[in-house]
Amino acid sequence: MLFDTHAHMDDHAFDVDRDELLSSLPGQGIALLMNPGCSLESSRNASQLSQRYDYIYAAVGSHPDAADEVNEEVLEQYRELCKQNPKIKAIGEIGLDYHYEDIPRDIQKKAFRAQMALAAELDLPVIVHERDAHEDGMAIVREFPNVKGVFHCYSGSAEMAKQLVDMGWYIGFTGVLTFKNARKALEVASSIPLDRLVLETDCPYMAPEPFRGKRNDPGKLYRMAEKLAELRGLTVEEIHAITVENGRRLYRI
Ligand code: NI
Repeated sequence: MLFDTHAHMDDHAFDVDRDELLSSLPGQGIALLMNPGCSLESSRNASQLSQRYDYIYAAVGSHPDAADEVNEEVLEQYRELCKQNPKIKAIGEIGLDYHYEDIPRDIQKKAFRAQMALAAELDLPVIVHERDAHEDGMAIVREFPNVKGVFHCYSGSAEMAKQLVDMGWYIGFTGVLTFKNARKALEVASSIPLDRLVLETDCPYMAPEPFRGKRNDPGKLYRMAEKLAELRGLTVEEIHAITVENGRRLYRI
């Protein structure tokens, strides 16, 4: 059984068959699933899904792409959602994305800090999205020593991963692990302590080989487990057990 620690089941890509797919996932080996929010609207939808399916948990937060919506009112809505639904186990996904920079960096940083502070206040772990913003991302994380969580779809160096692990953080790996050009991700997945690794699809994006370019879904997470087992010289069953336990510890489930 596997824990998909990052799956956007509220995404419009699943509008055509969401309930059919969600009903089938436990039969496909998915024991637990974390659905992070990307905006206030998506956080509400994630929360609702967690109330309809036993194995689904939710996080609330505004992604760097939605950083410009973050204000006191939105933060209050997140507080309210957390109060109403005990299956909300994290604040996320939040962070920085300088790849496209649709939202100016100072607005992204302000939203990231405000939501890190919310996580500290509510004593919840965070799900961090950080792309091409390693230095600023690490600097803000260090401003909140009491807040821990996961760097999802990890794209940093092995050295940065080591720093995060030493600070008590987890590292999330997607289908990128199965890509031919995944040298950096493979290096990190081979070297960090086994008890700090979690697996995720980040679906509907990032489908693993041999599904690359297609719609991704949690039923394809077994490919990441196979790859990790090969890398670490363990059986697939051992990787399943270890990564489920890590995900539970990360999100306190
Ligand atoms: Ni995501």
